[in-house]
This record gives sequence, C-alpha cells and structure tokens, in this order.
Amino acid sequence: MTKSTSRAPPEDAHVQRARRRRVNGAMLAAAFSLFALGVAWHEAHAPKARPADELPIMQARADDASQPAPALATPVVSGGIDLVKRGAYLARAGDCAACHTADPSRPFAGGLPIDTPFGIIVTPNITPDPDTGIGRWSDADFLRAMHEGIGKGGERLYPAFPYAEYTRVTEQDLLAIRAYLNTLTPIHFTPPANSLKFPFNQRWLMAFWNLFNFTEGRFVPDPKQSAEWNRGAYLVQGLAHCEECHTPRNFMQGLKSSARFSGAVQAGWHAFNITPDKISGVGEWRDDELIAYLSTGAAPDRANAAGPMGEVVADSTQYLSRVDLRSIVIYLRSVPPVSGGEARPRHQWGNPADDVSALRGAAIKGVNGAQLFVANCASCHSWTGQGVGASAPGAYPSLIHNSTVGASSADNLAQVILHGVRRTTKHADVLMPAFGNQLTDAQVAAIANYVTRQFGNPQSTVTAEQVASLRPPSRPQ
Ligand code: HEC
Ligand code: HEC
Ligand code: HEC
Repeated sequence: MTKSTSRAPPEDAHVQRARRRRVNGAMLAAAFSLFALGVAWHEAHAPKARPADELPIMQARADDASQPAPALATPVVSGGIDLVKRGAYLARAGDCAACHTADPSRPFAGGLPIDTPFGIIVTPNITPDPDTGIGRWSDADFLRAMHEGIGKGGERLYPAFPYAEYTRVTEQDLLAIRAYLNTLTPIHFTPPANSLKFPFNQRWLMAFWNLFNFTEGRFVPDPKQSAEWNRGAYLVQGLAHCEECHTPRNFMQGLKSSARFSGAVQAGWHAFNITPDKISGVGEWRDDELIAYLSTGAAPDRANAAGPMGEVVADSTQYLSRVDLRSIVIYLRSVPPVSGGEARPRHQWGNPADDVSALRGAAIKGVNGAQLFVANCASCHSWTGQGVGASAPGAYPSLIHNSTVGASSADNLAQVILHGVRRTTKHADVLMPAFGNQLTDAQVAAIANYVTRQFGNPQSTVTAEQVASLRPPSRPQ
C-alpha cells in the first residue's frame, strides 16, 4: 500500500535540469534554496486574506501548556489506565496507525512507503523499541517532533508527517498518546531507507519549507464560537488532519490556505470538496448523513467511502464518539463554501437502467461497457444499478445518487473498479472485489464510461491510458 500526494511541482524540472549540469552539490542546494525563497517570497506577497488559523506564531503560541484542552468526549483523568485509554482514543483520532503500520503483524513499526513528488519517504518505527523505535525518546523529544517536526537528533522531519496539523494538539493530549505508545509491544524493526532525489534528501532544506508553509503553535479556541465548534475545529485542524487530503496544495506542496477543504488529489483519488457549498461541497448533506458516513463509511443516496477515505473511516473516524463526530460536522459546516463550478451535486446524478435487452446485446463486438457491466457488476449492483439492500451499511449500494459515480472526474470510479472496496468497521465487513487483475485498462475504462453515462455524470469519462496511470507504479529499485 502506498500513499502519495499530488503532482510534481514546477521546481522539479528546474532541479532536474540543474542536476544534468552536474554542478557541485552544495552549490546546487544553495541555488535551490534561493530559488525556493524567491518563489516563496512571491507567493507570500500575493494578495490573499489571512485566515484565523494563520495567526502569527507569537499570538498562536501564547496558550501552549497553560491552555486547557477543549472539552473532551472521554473523561480526563491524569495518569494510569485512563490516560492510556485516552491516548489510544486520540491515537485513533490522529490515525497514527494508517501511516506507521505497513504490515498488520508489526503494528506501529513503520515501513510504509509514502510517494511524494520529491521521492519516497518511509515511515519510521514508533513502537517503544529502544534501538529501532522511539523507546529512548524523552517526552520532550516526542513533543518536539509532534509540535515542531524536529527529530531526536535535531534533524528536520519531512511534512509527509502531518506535524503542520499536529502542532495544534495540546501537550496534554500528546502526552496521553505517548503514554499509550509506551504500552505497545516493542518491535525490533528498521524500516528501509528513504529514496529522495537530491536536493530533497537534504533535511535542512525543510527549514525553508517551514518558513512558508508551517506555523508552529497550539490550537487557540475562539471564544465567540460554541464549545462544540471549538472541539470540532481542534480535531479537524489538529489530530484528524482532514486537510492533508481535502485541501489543495501550492507549488511547494504546502496547504493552500485560500481554498481550504475544497478538494485535492491524493494518491490518484479525488478527496472531494467537503466545504458547505451546496453544489460542489457537502452543503446538501444532513448532519446525520455526514455522521453516518464518518462512522460507517456509507451514507445512502450520497456516498460510500473507498480508497484512502475507506481507510480513514476504518482506522480512525469509526472510533470517534458521537459527540466528537457531531463537533466535526458543526465545524465543517462553518468553513467558507468553495464552488468548483459544477452544475449539480455529485450525489444527484443518474437514473436506473430500464432496458435490459439493450444490455444483453447481440454478439460481443470489441469492448462493450454495458455487457462487461452485466457480466462483472450486476450480480451485486443489479443491472438497473440500484444495488441490493441498498440502504444498510454493508449492502451492495446503488450506483445512482452516489458521489463517486456522479463526480466530475471518473478517476475514483476507475480506482474502485481496479482496487475494489475493503472496509472493516464495527457495523459491517464491506467487500467489493478488485478487478484490476481480471480486466484490461480498456475494459475498466469501458465499464466506467458505461456507469457514468447510465448511472452518473455522463460528462465524466476516462480513457484506457488514464486507467493505466492509476494502476500502482512499478517501483524503480
Ligand atoms: C500521513 C502519514 C502519517 C501519519 C498519519 C502519522 N505519521 Fe508519524 N511520521 C510520518 C512520516 C512519513 C514520518 C517520517 C518523516 C521523516 O522521515 O522526516 C513520521 C515521523 C514520526 C515521528 C518521528 C520518528 C522518528 O524516528 O524520527 C514520530 C514520533 C511520529 N511520526 C509519531 C506519529 C504519531 C504519534 C502519529 C499519530 C498522532 C503519527 N505519527 C501519524 C507519517 C505519518
Ligand atoms: C488520506 C486522505 C483523506 C483524509 C485524511 C480524509 N479524507 Fe475524506 N475523502 C478522501 C477521499 C479520497 C474521498 C473520496 C472517497 C471515495 O470516492 O470513495 C473522501 C471523501 C470524503 C467525504 C465524502 C464526500 C463525497 O461527496 O463523497 C467526506 C464527507 C469526507 N471525506 C470527510 C472527511 C473528514 C471530515 C476528514 C477528517 C476527519 C477526512 N475526510 C479525512 C480522502 C481523505
Ligand atoms: C461482490 C459484490 C460486488 C461486485 C461484483 C461489484 N461491487 Fe461495487 N460495491 C460492492 C460493495 C460491497 C461496495 C461498497 C459498499 C459500501 O461502501 O458500503 C461497492 C461499492 C461500489 C461503488 C461505490 C464506491 C464509492 O466510493 O462510493 C461503485 C462505484 C461500485 N461499487 C461499482 C462497481 C462496478 C463498476 C463493478 C463491476 C466492475 C462492481 N462495483 C462490482 C459490491 C460489489
């Protein structure tokens, strides 16, 4: 399993050209920093509103340890089992396992390769093993990593580790997470090394990235808002790091603060616009539908959670208390709506197929999406596309009024066909088989195009070449 962020930024080409000239390494690094500084200066001086979460460091940092944690769903009891239990809950809210567990038999021992435009970053071992994990780390080391993105030896950590969000988490909550991590079985395992292209293997360069894309400081509650709003903001902006996937990035791979939650591409998946915009976002969803989606992964007539979001639900949000989920929804409702220019909400497309004889067709000629749909998909989703038992979590969902089928790109649909859906929650074991090994790129494209035309947004089409680009890359050794 590999996670990745969006496309290579423009400086990549610049860097590669420079490399071909084989300039002295230190000179190139210096040149790159100047270049990054130059462009970043330009970006920083472009006129834009400064949202509240970008308060200058001094102001935002004022609270720190003196700040009481926002109202908690689970009782705060210092020390002992309750601290560990709270830490376990918060570690789930922060979804630490999603990145730090590559092999389920080695939980939290790292080793997951994360594809970034700069190369591959492999997650470290955060079990209490003294030699290969963080067993020898002091609490202060741990807090510094989480709050400042600085490792035990003083090295800069890469922002593939979401410290840009974790910096908002209170010291108290992080120490609870540490207490929980301390109770894990130490696993002696050294993950493979990163393979980053020069100059991105120069950790000190992250100082420049931080300068423009990172504001160190704890969450500052807004006294004008309710306790629930503040709790939601604290979770979403902090541990739950929803923006890592749902907010588009600037050329430096920092989060674009002018378009928060308006959707971005993550590992070849579209993490949709979740602002309250009624057409492009989730403004039409009811609160209970958003809560159902986050706790079960299914919101009938709206969406199902597959790919990276399926993992978020399975590893993280399904465990959140109702109070916390409601708080998240209250906060999301309050972020500025962003329109993506769509004509209709994603979940409002499609009609049942009504002509089964057309599907049966005559002799199979070439690649026929309708026939492939009947052969591969209709047993579960029905030839009408209406699914079976469609409204319960774990049912075979309707493809009509489904955000993936109605989205303005067919990429997620192609991903679902290639990789299937596998999501285990306390509500259901959800399984749709992956078709990547059975179907050719042309067949996947034909099915996807039939499904969007018949059950979804007919303007969304995909080519065999695009499907090929969504298949997992063969890794250079
Ligand atoms: C989106 C993926 C992701 C998530 C989620 C994540 N981490 Fe990490 N973490 C990383 C990566 C990648 C690194 C290594 C960064 C580097 O090498 O510069 C890292 C590094 C660390 C380090 C430094 C370890 C070392 O040896 O330097 C600690 C501590 C850590 N993470 C703790 C956590 C905790 C606790 C959570 C949950 C609250 C968490 N991480 C969630 C990706 C993630
Ligand atoms: C690892 C990346 C990732 C993270 C983190 C993430 N999401 Fe998502 N999210 C996605 C992707 C990808 C989809 C589309 C899933 C699909 O097509 O099945 C999605 C879909 C959604 C949807 C459904 C939108 C629709 O119209 O179908 C909602 C709501 C949502 N996410 C909310 C959240 C919230 C709230 C958080 C933080 C608690 C969050 N997400 C964190 C990647 C992510
Ligand atoms: C064995 C039964 C089965 C088959 C066969 C099957 N599916 Fe699914 N499908 C499911 C299940 C189960 C889900 C997930 C339901 C959930 O998320 O709660 C699903 C989900 C989906 C989704 C929604 C994904 C999302 O992120 O919203 C789409 C689209 C889809 N299937 C299309 C197809 C297509 C196209 C085919 C044929 C290539 C197919 N399915 C074959 C069972 C099946």
